[in-house]
Amino acid sequence: MKDISIATGVSNSEPSLPAADSPDVILVPATPEERIESIKLNSVAWKGPLDVQTYIARENHLHQQRLVKDGLTCWILVDRNQPEGKRTILSSCETYKKKALLAYDGQVEDVPTHGVGSVYCRPEFRRQGYARRMLEELSKKLDTWQMDNERRDQSLFTVLFSDIGKNFYAQYGWRPFSSSHISLKPISREEYDQAIPGIKLRMARALFAEDVRTCMCDDEVLEKQRELLREASKKSPGAKVAIKPDYDHFVWHWAREEFYADKLYSHRDPPVIKGAGDDTSKVYCAWNRNFGETPKENTLFILRWMYNEPTSPSDSQVTAEAIAAILRRAQLEAHEWNMAAVEFWNPTPLMQKAAAMLDPSAEVIHREKSSIASLRWTGAEQGLGKDVEWFWNEKYTWC
Ligand SMILES: CC(C)(COP(=O)(O)OP(=O)(O)OC[C@H]1O[C@@H](n2cnc3c(N)ncnc32)[C@H](O)[C@@H]1OP(=O)(O)O)[C@@H](O)C(=O)NCCC(=O)NCCS
Repeated sequence: MKDISIATGVSNSEPSLPAADSPDVILVPATPEERIESIKLNSVAWKGPLDVQTYIARENHLHQQRLVKDGLTCWILVDRNQPEGKRTILSSCETYKKKALLAYDGQVEDVPTHGVGSVYCRPEFRRQGYARRMLEELSKKLDTWQMDNERRDQSLFTVLFSDIGKNFYAQYGWRPFSSSHISLKPISREEYDQAIPGIKLRMARALFAEDVRTCMCDDEVLEKQRELLREASKKSPGAKVAIKPDYDHFVWHWAREEFYADKLYSHRDPPVIKGAGDDTSKVYCAWNRNFGETPKENTLFILRWMYNEPTSPSDSQVTAEAIAAILRRAQLEAHEWNMAAVEFWNPTPLMQKAAAMLDPSAEVIHREKSSIASLRWTGAEQGLGKDVEWFWNEKYTWC
């Protein structure tokens, strides 16, 4: 008990806490020391197989990555009467500024967005409305946060991934979006080498980090994706947004897996295979390995898929077979890294067809509780309509 009070800045003789709706309660960016304190607090929920110090090191390592280096803010809900450095953290979260795209009326615009993560209230302070108050304050702050050098004065949208169902965040404007996945089992090298009866699958090529950069994220490829968004916007009215699937996103996810691999599998070479692809049909995916609290929770996530929309039934068959071959390569990689599953989010009908080639019992799971992709749209106030479509709602956007 004593240790906790030292580590968390709460003394055992703490006077009463402020009411969540008190005007004295404010949401502020944490000082570097308070950020570490908030990480210590939430380690109870999220350190997984790491000890607290290693978990803090993980967070600091991720903070150094280009994706979030300049745009990460740790927010804390505190009593304004307490002096900086001695403030009791009532609730906390993080926001990450990211590059995004808006398509509207046939035009595509670069816009910023924020991802919200690590929403936390320590167990002994729960059910007193602190997280509610924090999210109410946060939603107001994010409208103008870090908008200084942007074309617009106000942000258009922010995203988060709820692990506590669809209702909690919806109260504060983060509306649940499509949150489904397909999960496949890992396969051993022997299984991989065996043919699948009735299906001719080419072997997929393993992609290293540089391959992912060239095949999925170079300027030309990103420009083509921007063009897809523009085309979609010409065809149907209403705002469309996407988080830019740039290389920094993949590097951030890989920094995470490499950190875990180094701590948990130091006897092994680092995980250098970062995806798989088929150059003939130009189908590619990038993945990362997610190390859970126990090996049963280890998952190889496909972060992002890329393929050209087929224009004929035979083209469609070729693309589905290439996706299947790539998924098979992912299943092998999952086996080699002791993952319990391969998972990919919001599968298109073509991906569903590919998964069924490998496992006829594979089904689309619609999540109700964990990783609910949620988006708060404030574009209506800026004349962009009340509805928005989220393009490329895939795992790479998670933070
Ligand atoms: C989720 C969490 C931040 C809520 O903090 P809190 O300060 O207790 O939340 P509030 O008191 O403001 O809750 C307001 C309402 O939110 C809802 N709520 C709170 N926790 C919830 C949970 N775990 N699941 C679903 N709804 C929840 C309830 O409707 C609650 O109202 P009620 O008390 O009348 O039932 C806290 O439980 C926590 O830190 N949990 C562990 C980490 C976590 O799961 N974070 C969310 C990651 S997406």
